[in-house]
Amino acid sequence: DRKIILGIAGLGTVGAGVVKIIEKHKALIAARAGCPVEIKAVSARDRSRDRGVDLSAYDWVDNAVDLAEEGSGVNLVVELIGGSDGPALALARKALGRGIGFVTANKALIATHGKELAVLAEETGAPLKFEAAVAGGIPIIKALREGLAGNAIESVRGILNGTCNYILTRMEHEGLAFDDVLKDAQQLGYAEADPTFDIDGIDTAHKTAILATLAFGTEPDIENLPTEGIRNIAPVDIEYAKELGYRIKLLGVTQQTAEGIETRVHPAMVPTRAAIANVMGPTNAVVVNGDAVGQTVYEGAGAGEGPTASAVMGDILDVARGAEGPRLGVPATSLKPSNPVPVVKH
Ligand code: NDP
Ligand code: HSE
Repeated sequence: DRKIILGIAGLGTVGAGVVKIIEKHKALIAARAGCPVEIKAVSARDRSRDRGVDLSAYDWVDNAVDLAEEGSGVNLVVELIGGSDGPALALARKALGRGIGFVTANKALIATHGKELAVLAEETGAPLKFEAAVAGGIPIIKALREGLAGNAIESVRGILNGTCNYILTRMEHEGLAFDDVLKDAQQLGYAEADPTFDIDGIDTAHKTAILATLAFGTEPDIENLPTEGIRNIAPVDIEYAKELGYRIKLLGVTQQTAEGIETRVHPAMVPTRAAIANVMGPTNAVVVNGDAVGQTVYEGAGAGEGPTASAVMGDILDVARGAEGPRLGVPATSLKPSNPVPVVKH
């Protein structure tokens, strides 16, 4: 009988959230999956840490890569450790190489090694899913891969980092300094393990590179992506922008231009009448333009335990239902070089 047997690597904000949903919605998930979905084994650094979830029924594995070893009994690995290399990459290679499905929330991993992993997955037939890697709880990967697959995409742009949007919102509304708000974002579980990834725009660049790949069939290309974060935005900048009728937002943009695909990340002055200017706190928003559909807009929680775990669960259920296709929207071997075009400063 078919059964999804999970090995979960990483039990922090997102990992603990996934365990909670699986325990809470066991019957609902089995009904929607068409088969039982069970956790077999888990892994993190510190076995003694209280994570607010009962892990006593699961095997504990010290080395995350062992979750994908033959004999582990796991047939779907969920990677929620983070980082573009190290144990996350080793686990992905091991699982996909053995034909075992791999679900991840790790945008750094997919933006850096997505092509290699997709080629491997397509060779072995293993599912590779990363819905939670972009825009937290918003199902934007599924929108681009599935619902909008019949469109030539013209542009994808949006607020893709919950931490930065939360910081900018509180700086504007409460006149707080950057560093004070960053600490709150870390406590709330929004920020990356290294929060410079958030504030320097690198996390948004990872997400934008993934969106560019899905929208335009180009290789994820983080090296050539012009990236500027919000580190140098002061309360006075926000105040002046407001007086002029604008709000400062950190945007990720990828769009078709006459010269090629232009992809960039930077803070932008957005007119306050625009819908995207009114997206506040850790909320993300993504605006997609396609030649047949016109404009579609997606908004929702971009970070945090519940929303991110929700996206991971969507992927687990997808694998359980058995729908597969090219992992990056087009066969990974056919991805085009990103051919970066110079960015016009706005
Ligand atoms: P956390 O830092 O909260 O959790 C990371 C987990 O990984 C911890 O449980 C940690 O163990 C474990 N870990 C670290 N190193 C190892 C290792 N070598 N072997 C095994 N386990 C290890 O991160 P998050 O839950 O916030 O993020 C996880 C992933 O999800 C990242 O890729 C992140 O970018 C992504 N993501 C996060 C979102 C969020 O809102 N937080 C949103 C969308 C994506 P221990 O607990 O023992 O220290
Ligand atoms: N640190 C990320 C953010 C987590 O703040 O958006 C969600 O990807």
